[in-house]
Order: sequence, then structure tokens, then C-alpha cells
Amino acid sequence: MLRDIIVYATLVGVSCAITQENLDYIGDNLDITYDVVTNFVPENDTYTGKLTFKNSGQNVINNDAWAIYFCHIRIIEQSRIYHGNYIDPNGYTDPNTGAKWSHVNGCLFKVEPTATFEDITAGESREILFIAGAWMISRSDTMPNWYVAADGLEARTIQSTASEDLDFVSAFDSVEKWKRYENDKYDPYTPEKRFTINAVQDDLGAAQHLVLPTPVKVEVDDTSTVSISTGDWVIVIKDNLQQEAKYLSEKLSMGTTTVTPSSKYVLLQVNNTLLVDDQTTSNSEAYTLVVDTSSQVITLEGKSPTGVFWAVQSLISIHDGTNGRIPAVTLSDQPRYNYRGMHVDVSRNFHNKESILRLIDGMSLYKLNKLHFHLTDDEGWRLEIDGIPELTEIGGFRCHDLAEGQCVLSQLGSGPNSYKSVNGFYTAQDYREILQYATDRHVEVLPEIDVPGHCHAAIIAMEQRRRMLEANPIQGSPADQYLLYEADDPSKYVSVQYFTDNGINPCLNSTYAFLEKVFSEVVKLHDGIAPLKTFIFGGDEVAEGAWLNSTACEKLVESGEVASHHDLKEYFVKRTASIMEGYDLGAWEDGVLGEVNKTDVAYDITQLKNNGDVYAYAWQNIWEWGVGNRAYKLANAGYKTVMSQATHTYFDHPYEPDPEERGFYWAPRFIDTEKTFGFMPDSLYDNIDVARSGEVLNKETECAKSAEWCLPLEKPENIVGMQGQLWSETVRTAEHLDFMIFPRIIALAERAWHKADWESSSDKTEREAVRRDDWESFALTLGYKELKRLEELQIKYRVSLPGARVVDGKLEANTGYPGETIQYSTDGSTWNTFTSTSSPSGTVYLRTISSAGRASRQIQIEVDGCGAPTCGTSSIVHNMIGLSISLITAYLISSM
Ligand SMILES: *[C@@H]1O[C@H](CO)[C@@H](O)[C@H](O)[C@H]1NC(C)=O
Ligand SMILES: *[C@@H]1O[C@H](CO)[C@@H](O)[C@H](O)[C@H]1NC(C)=O
Ligand SMILES: *[C@@H]1O[C@H](CO)[C@@H](O)[C@H](O)[C@H]1NC(C)=O
Ligand SMILES: *[C@@H]1O[C@H](CO)[C@@H](O)[C@H](O)[C@H]1NC(C)=O
Repeated sequence: MLRDIIVYATLVGVSCAITQENLDYIGDNLDITYDVVTNFVPENDTYTGKLTFKNSGQNVINNDAWAIYFCHIRIIEQSRIYHGNYIDPNGYTDPNTGAKWSHVNGCLFKVEPTATFEDITAGESREILFIAGAWMISRSDTMPNWYVAADGLEARTIQSTASEDLDFVSAFDSVEKWKRYENDKYDPYTPEKRFTINAVQDDLGAAQHLVLPTPVKVEVDDTSTVSISTGDWVIVIKDNLQQEAKYLSEKLSMGTTTVTPSSKYVLLQVNNTLLVDDQTTSNSEAYTLVVDTSSQVITLEGKSPTGVFWAVQSLISIHDGTNGRIPAVTLSDQPRYNYRGMHVDVSRNFHNKESILRLIDGMSLYKLNKLHFHLTDDEGWRLEIDGIPELTEIGGFRCHDLAEGQCVLSQLGSGPNSYKSVNGFYTAQDYREILQYATDRHVEVLPEIDVPGHCHAAIIAMEQRRRMLEANPIQGSPADQYLLYEADDPSKYVSVQYFTDNGINPCLNSTYAFLEKVFSEVVKLHDGIAPLKTFIFGGDEVAEGAWLNSTACEKLVESGEVASHHDLKEYFVKRTASIMEGYDLGAWEDGVLGEVNKTDVAYDITQLKNNGDVYAYAWQNIWEWGVGNRAYKLANAGYKTVMSQATHTYFDHPYEPDPEERGFYWAPRFIDTEKTFGFMPDSLYDNIDVARSGEVLNKETECAKSAEWCLPLEKPENIVGMQGQLWSETVRTAEHLDFMIFPRIIALAERAWHKADWESSSDKTEREAVRRDDWESFALTLGYKELKRLEELQIKYRVSLPGARVVDGKLEANTGYPGETIQYSTDGSTWNTFTSTSSPSGTVYLRTISSAGRASRQIQIEVDGCGAPTCGTSSIVHNMIGLSISLITAYLISSM
């Protein structure tokens, strides 16, 4: 950007009012570098970080009235002068630098110069140390789009922080940067370590499954095949299966008819008495698929249209895995669980309709049938509600507006402007299109409006509505009709994500008027497409201390309607449930748990059920905290429990314990596809594996700690399914979304549909061995087949990283899923396909390439040419060390 720089020369040493030009200059010329100095700060739960402000332009940056706003996911300690448990809104001036730090709300912080902050002259670099909470070990912990603002001027993004590569964050290239604390067991994988993880005993060179998830029973006769791509095959539709036939017809480019020809047809029909593995079944999703090669007839039967649709998906999968010639197959199948879900958070960062449709496509390919749609949170309200336009017009956007009159505060790297794609909402029309698309693919959409916590955006929008209606009254719309917050509530609290005002008040009647209105509008949106069955109210992470000093709550407690402040959340949940009479409800585990004597106790379900079920999503199972039992606790209390455990199914976590892998890591340090594949939902405590530190845990030892910790499951019928979770704090683009979900979701689908024999084995060693074998065939099927199918749907799954080692001076390499292409380079720019005859030496770079040519991040390894005395000793260099920042950036780009 070219600007007139002469203006600034006059600013040197002169204290005059800051101008727009000053802000523009800072936005364009302040090079910010973010460094983690060390996570190893003894005894304090903090780390030391460093900001470097380099003035890369020609002018002086004065200590004017500018301030830099940025999202920081760890509390900046300088701003944390606690008064009780809240954050000092007045901030803190660091006497060493003259920089003043303050917390704004949520992850938004501000750093600004005070009188003692020295001018930053042209070319000068100023280092500013800070201390922040816990630790930081991953590039994606830092959010982009820092910006500079001043009263009355337009805020400007600081360009050096604007790239999605996050190249203003320095490399995490030493232990005190990539470990959280000294006894953190995790190091990033070396190429050699990854080689061991990737290695399969037998690369058979082909997919090992005709269909994933694994069907109940398949018989294949490869000696007899039939080609259905000859142009003369048709689909015969019975029983109103037009939609299922249409899907198949589009995938196989085959016409449809209702008249059965003599041969060469695919018959679709409902059969209520079909047999699965020669047994009768009551499972409505059951189906059979028979390819009769001699009569040239393929029969797809389902117990219901949904069963028929899964048969259609299986046929498409068989077709995709062969070269047009389909073998004789007899297949019968039904799912392990009725609930096979994927949760997606579109609030933290908005993801548009197209991304959601693509996700639904991917889900239905693997017979996942529930989309848990997290539509609201602190950072944004994403669903248009007829009659309350403020929810989306204000609550759907973030921008620099400290009064939050036009939009919600900037959060999670959304920057100062509301036009960014991380903002936005679904119009009623968009939402109905999503519903239709999902319905056509037999995926049920379960909307979540998360209350009473996580409501910053809704609270702000309703407060703004009140102000507007007070200024311009409208007959029939009282200003406080939907108010969610008591204006003068002196309660002080901080939520897990540092919001100081995100709990809607359970003691105001307007809260329930709001919920009733929103709920009835959601019901209307579903009408005529997919009538609403289940409404998820969330209920998670209500901040301690919310409402403590609310007058309305005090009155409610005094009146005796609620026993104490402690019982307000339960009161809220019951009253909310009564609004949704007749519907199934859903909540995160903590939404339906109260605490008695430091132990969680499920709310009495009979008080919540109104002719419907209540689903509970069991998620926070940190083994060493003793809360791994919550799934069983809730199932025993009558809740329909969905296994959503963070240790195995939180897809916002990284695939590897590497600072360059996207994602938060509060539960386990990483979740790779194999980890999800290995989850055993029927024997929860057999999943106890590692503590958060990476320390190996033993089931017997953990369970012996308290009778409560591994309490038994008394009502197994209440474990209804499994779900993957994608929270979107670090997920800003469509590519990020696909990357985090795929291919892990296929492993989730495998476990939700098919119970493997090894899951029932009580001998851990034997179980692990059989599981690993099963994983290896699964990995072959991914590598030789499924990844290509994803690529054809334009799903930008994470391309696995190569592993590598040097044996007798020769480089060997493999990938996460056998069959993927590996490329190597010795200069980092010319790439060749790596085969068993390739023998590059010196510094070698390796990367994996998808069928569409997308590259993984690259790794680096030193290969000694043979002949030297060291020949045969491997010389592995950690993949991050020694790489210049620009190279790291280059391969980050290539992976996105
Ligand atoms: C960290 O802890 C040590 C020891 O308790 C204490 O002396 C020091 O002041 C603490 N540092 C900070 C920044 O809180
Ligand atoms: C339904 O399936 C059963 C069991 O395979 C079979 O005997 C019956 O003929 C089928 N019904 C129809 C209408 O094809
Ligand atoms: C709130 O609604 C309840 C139930 O309709 C009613 O009894 C109560 O008086 C209302 N409270 C206020 C403060 O209006
Ligand atoms: C809020 O209520 C608590 C508990 O009753 C009390 O200790 C505290 O002083 C109150 N705070 C304010 C700001 O009123």
C-alpha cells in the first residue's frame, strides 16, 4: 500500500493528536513477531512470551493514543490482577516497558503505550516480554489479524499478522517451547519415529475392505464379475424410493424406471422381513445388497428407505473400488448404534453453507446419520430467527466496536472488520437448503442453541435490541421482551474462555420468552422438510459466579421457588425443558450434572422428560481427574448417552504432537486416526491410556483410586451412539475444516457402525495386537481407496506426513496410509516421486501428495551417502530444527 509518508516526518517528537495516517502507518509498517521464550517457568502455571515490534518504515511510531488489539487464548498475566475471581478491567502498566496490558473480553486483549513507552524509531526493534497463563506449544494457538485502533479513527489490521500461515509466530524449535512443562512426555515426531508408526507389516497393495464401515456380513466371489458401466443398465424404483434412486443415478450415471426389465438392472426396494446374517432384525437401518452376476441383477433392499440408502452407499463404494467390474457379492448389514454423529461448531468461526453440504456428503458416504449443528456461542449467533433480526445482524458479526452496538467484539483472529468470511450466518433459506440436502442423504440435523452459558453474542444482541426499541418504540414489542441479562447485575465471573458476561440470566422471565420464541422459529424452519425431533440446548461450561449477585435471582431464591443460588442452573434446565414439551432434548454432560459434595450428580431425568428422551454428550473424560465415568453415570440415570469423549473423538485436537499441527490440546496432546479407530465405546475404562502429560496410565491403577472413578454401567441400552466433535476456534477456513475432520471421521464411522471382535478381548496384549492388524487393513483401505473418494468430493482431507529412516546409507520412507505417493527433493523446490530405487543423499525433503496433487507438510532428513565411515548410521534431524522460517512457511502453505 502506498501512502504519503512525508506527513509522518512532522510527528517526530511532537505530541499531537493521532491521525488516521498514523494508524495506517502502524498497520502497514509494524512488523510484529510473536515468540514463546519458555514454558518452563518453575512453580507458576505460566509461560514467558515476547513480542517484537519492529518499525520497518521510515517514520517514528510515537507513544500516541493508539492501542493494539489481539486475541490471546491464554490470559495475559499482566492484565490479571484478580479481585476475587475476575479480571481487572483497568489493566496494568508494566514499569519496565511502559506498555499497558488490559483484558477486554473473551480472548480480546489490548496493549498500548503509556507516557513512559519510548518512541519506536524507523528500523528499530522493540522487545516486550509478557507472562501468560499455562503454556503455549503450537503455532495455531496464536490468532491472526491483530489490529491497531484509536478513538474516532478506523481500526487497521497489522499486515504482518494477517497471513493464515501465522508466519509472525517464531518456530517452536527447542524443548522449552514444544513441551508444556519439564515432565511433558511429548516431543514432535522425528521422521524415524513416524516411520515406525506408519509401518504396516504387509502392504498388500490394495484396499482390504469392499465397504467401510465394515458390514456385518459380506461374501464375495471375485471369480465372477459384472460390468454395470455399459450404458444399458437401469435403476428400478419400488416403494417411493425416488430420492434414493436419484442419488444412485447421479453417482453411477444410470437411468431410472419403475418397470422391471429382464436383466441388467439395480432394484431398490423396502423389505420389512429381510435377514441380516441369516437373522431377522428390528433395526430400521438394516439392508442387504446382492450382486447376482449370472442373472445380471443387483438387489438393494432396506428395512426402511434409510436402509435402502445405506445399501446405495455400499454399492457406490463397491463400484468406486473396482474398475467398473463388480464381483458377485452377498452383503447384509446393520449399524451397531442408531446415533452416529458429527458435531460442528460454526459459531467460533463461521463456515458457509457449501462447507456444511460437503461435510454432509462425507458423512453420508460413511453412513453417519446425525449432524449436531452448534449454531450459537459467545463469538456469534449463526441462524436467522424470524422476528429477532438483531441476533444475526449484530450477533452474527465481529468488528472493532468496543460498545458492541453494531457487532460483537473481535474474537479469535477475526480482525477489525465484519466482512471477513469467519463472520456471517445462515439465512432461513440457507438453513432449509442444508436441511433438505441432509434429509436427502438420510442425515438428521440436530440444531444446538447453546444456553445458558456461551451466550455473549445473544446477550449483546438482545441488549442492543432493547436500546433500539427504547429509542424507537414499536407497538407490541416491549423493549425488554427478550432481555437476557440484568443491566445492573454486579456478579463478577470469568468463563473458561475469559468472557465476563456470557451467562443468560435464569431468573428473568424474558429469558424464557426468548427461548420460547427461538425454539418455535427453529421448529418452523424444520417444518415441511425434516420436522424437528431433537433440540440441543447445550448447557455446558456455565461460569461459576454467574448470577451470584443478580437481584432477580436473589428474589427467586428468597421466594423459595429455588432452594439456593447453587440450584439455579437446574431450575433453568427444567424450565427450558418444559418449553420443549414433546421433543427430545440434548445437552453436553455438564448441562445435566449438578455438583454435590464435589461429585457430579445427574439431574433427576423425570423432571426434564416431557414425553421425549434426553440425550447427553459425554465429553470431558480426563482420566486422571476421575471424570471418565460421566458417560456411565448419565446412562445409569436414564440419559441417552452419546460417546463424545474428548480423549478420542475431539477433532479440534492435532493429529500429531507437533507445534506445526493445527489444534488445541487440552484433552490429549493429539488424536490421530488410529486413536479414534481404537476407541472401545462398550468398555469405556479399557480406553484409559495416557494422562494429559503423556504419562502412561494403567486401567487397574486408575480404577483403584476410588470406587467412583470406574463406576459400572448398569443400563447399557442407554449408550446410544458415538460422535466426533469439531470446535472451531482454530478452524477459520474451509480447508481447515476438512483437514481437521477428514480422514479421522472414517475411523469414527467405523467404530460407530461396526463392533470389532478385538473390542471384547479382556487380554490387553492380545487385544492390542489384533487391533493393530485390523488398523493396518483399515489404513490400506484408506490409502488405496477412500482418500481418492474424498478427493473426488473436493474434500481437502489432511494428507498424512511421510515417515523416513536411513538404513545402510539408504533412505526409506512411508506414509500414514499405504498407497499414497511420496515425493522427495534435495533443494526444497524440485520434487520427484520417491520409489524404492530412489537414493537421494545429503539433506532430503519429503512430502506426501494426494491424488489431486495436494501436498502434506514436508519433513527433512539427513542421508549420509554410503562410503563414509558413518555409513549405515542414521542421522535423523528433527523435522523442525534447521529449517528456516520461510521453509516452514512454505510447507504450511503447501498443506493448506
Ligand atoms: C513465579 O513463582 C515464583 C515462586 O513462587 C515467584 O517468586 C515469582 O514471583 C513468580 N513469578 C510470577 C511472574 O508470578
Ligand atoms: C424379503 O426378504 C426375505 C428374506 O431374505 C425374503 O424371503 C423375501 O422374499 C423378501 N421379500 C421381497 C418382497 O423380496
Ligand atoms: C415470571 O413468570 C412467572 C410465571 O409466569 C410469574 O409467576 C412471575 O410473577 C413472573 N415474574 C415476574 C418478575 O414477572
Ligand atoms: C455477591 O454475593 C456474594 C455472596 O453473597 C457476596 O459475598 C459478594 O460481596 C457480592 N458481591 C457484590 C459485588 O455484590
